[in-house]
Amino acid sequence: MLSAAISPVQHVGGDLDPTRDLVAKSHLRPTRNPMAPSEIVYASKKQQLAVANLVQEFTILPAKLKEIKDRFKTEMVKGLANQGETLAMVQTHILGRLSGSETGTYLTLDIGGTNLRVVLVELSQGAQVSTRQKKYAIDPLLKVGEPKLLFVLANDAVIPKGRVLELGFTFSFPVLQTGINSGTLIDWTKGYSCHGMVGKDPAEFLQQALLNRNLEVNVSVLMNDTVGTLLSHAYLHPRTVVGFGLGTGSNGAYIERVDRIRKRDTTALGNDAEASTQEMVINIEFGAFDNERTVLPITMFDNKLDRKSLNPSKQLFEKMIAGMYLGEITRNILLDMIDNRLLFRGQSSHKLNTPWEFLTEHMSVIEEDSTPDLEDVRRVLEDILGLGLVESSETPVVTTMHADATDVKAPVQTSGGESPSGGTVTTLSDRQIVKLIVALVGQRSARLAAAALCGMLEHTMGYTWARDEAEKQEGVDIGVDGSVYGFYPGYESDLKGGLEELFALEAEMSFLFTKEGDNDSLKDRVRLGRCLDGSSVGAALGAVLATRSMEHSLLTAKSKPAGK
Ligand code: GLC
Repeated sequence: MLSAAISPVQHVGGDLDPTRDLVAKSHLRPTRNPMAPSEIVYASKKQQLAVANLVQEFTILPAKLKEIKDRFKTEMVKGLANQGETLAMVQTHILGRLSGSETGTYLTLDIGGTNLRVVLVELSQGAQVSTRQKKYAIDPLLKVGEPKLLFVLANDAVIPKGRVLELGFTFSFPVLQTGINSGTLIDWTKGYSCHGMVGKDPAEFLQQALLNRNLEVNVSVLMNDTVGTLLSHAYLHPRTVVGFGLGTGSNGAYIERVDRIRKRDTTALGNDAEASTQEMVINIEFGAFDNERTVLPITMFDNKLDRKSLNPSKQLFEKMIAGMYLGEITRNILLDMIDNRLLFRGQSSHKLNTPWEFLTEHMSVIEEDSTPDLEDVRRVLEDILGLGLVESSETPVVTTMHADATDVKAPVQTSGGESPSGGTVTTLSDRQIVKLIVALVGQRSARLAAAALCGMLEHTMGYTWARDEAEKQEGVDIGVDGSVYGFYPGYESDLKGGLEELFALEAEMSFLFTKEGDNDSLKDRVRLGRCLDGSSVGAALGAVLATRSMEHSLLTAKSKPAGK
């Protein structure tokens, strides 16, 4: 966070430190980034002010975070009551919990934002899991073209012959489920838009593709990746009630009590007494949260990204959080600073001018750099993004100039290295500003994710966990999958910091805190567990539950008197 723990200030902006108030007001915990805008060496007043404005726009103070979390909870309840709400709150038809002793061999296919994976999963009693897998990076052309091309990849994988296999299909897009292995695609997200698929059943599509190749595979469950994350984590940690995804896209699934799903088809789930004890996994599809723009602190940089995206006005929350978008938000900010001659002396590069070329991976490198000269930041900006390179005449690199931008005092620095053409490139203050901007975007994402997670936990507390004193003591597990959570430096601690802030604001959540030295901490009571690539194991477990619920309905059908 932009922290209250500011080390000695060395700004050259005279007495004016426009960030001091903001930082003091923030009450944010000192975490991983001790730099304040006023510490940027040689920053001009204009640079400091611009950065301070960004700090203000991107820092979500506790009261605002709580407002977002409360709205999230309200939207969850709305989505459970009606179809077509912003939070789809998809009923997955996955009922009940795992025992942890499930066994069997299942095939799983996972079509995600970036990869397609076919995995043969062996579940053996005692929670041992072994897998064999084939993984493909999905070519961007397949994301927008003929859907057949995407599904055909599944056939290409090594699928053992000679026996009928049950397949768990993870499809990481919003699907309105009509059954445990059927549903219709609501919309593409994460940059996909294969033709003719919206409104169609992806499971049927896959089943057909497999049949066409004479493969003896039965698609027995269709599920979201976050549902897979929830199940795979629950297999090893029985107190798991939430699966959370923070990767290319972002979303969450959780265990709901069936009698709270007011929109449910009551006939489908037996009598009310049965329903009141039953539990069903719900896929929230929270990427669409606040598409109405009532509570999110959306900036002009987010708007710019949204307008240029394949799905404008949709998935606004996801666009502020997920790995696919963080780099692009940052790029938009950098270009704005460049256009105002507040960075790189007004120069851009072909790559930086190109949408989606600044990646979240670049942000990770920048966040991690603690060298005095920010050498890794330099490498990203100059060697990878080409700042300072002499480019061809078709790709102009000087962007708009502001008439009042004359007092930019950043000195020419040689410590940052020379461009291949011999011209000077980024200065240390440029690099410090970039590092700070990156931190703002990354931290905002983690805090927003904390608001969603806290909303989910509060919504379920007392229903599926913390139902009595013993359960309160045991706390709760959350399985988290995705590259942003797994690899983005400091993300996990920012997310936990946000959770702690939020829980501290609700008296009834105080039981979650345990004393740690001088601090209260969520440690031990709210356990976030990394569950990287958990969705394949989860899909296998989903197939187990699907078979179980099929057997259950056969049994109930048999025991019902004829004619009923
Ligand atoms: C997008 C999809 C959602 C998926 C998430 C994470 O938000 O709509 O279904 O779970 O990405 O992959």
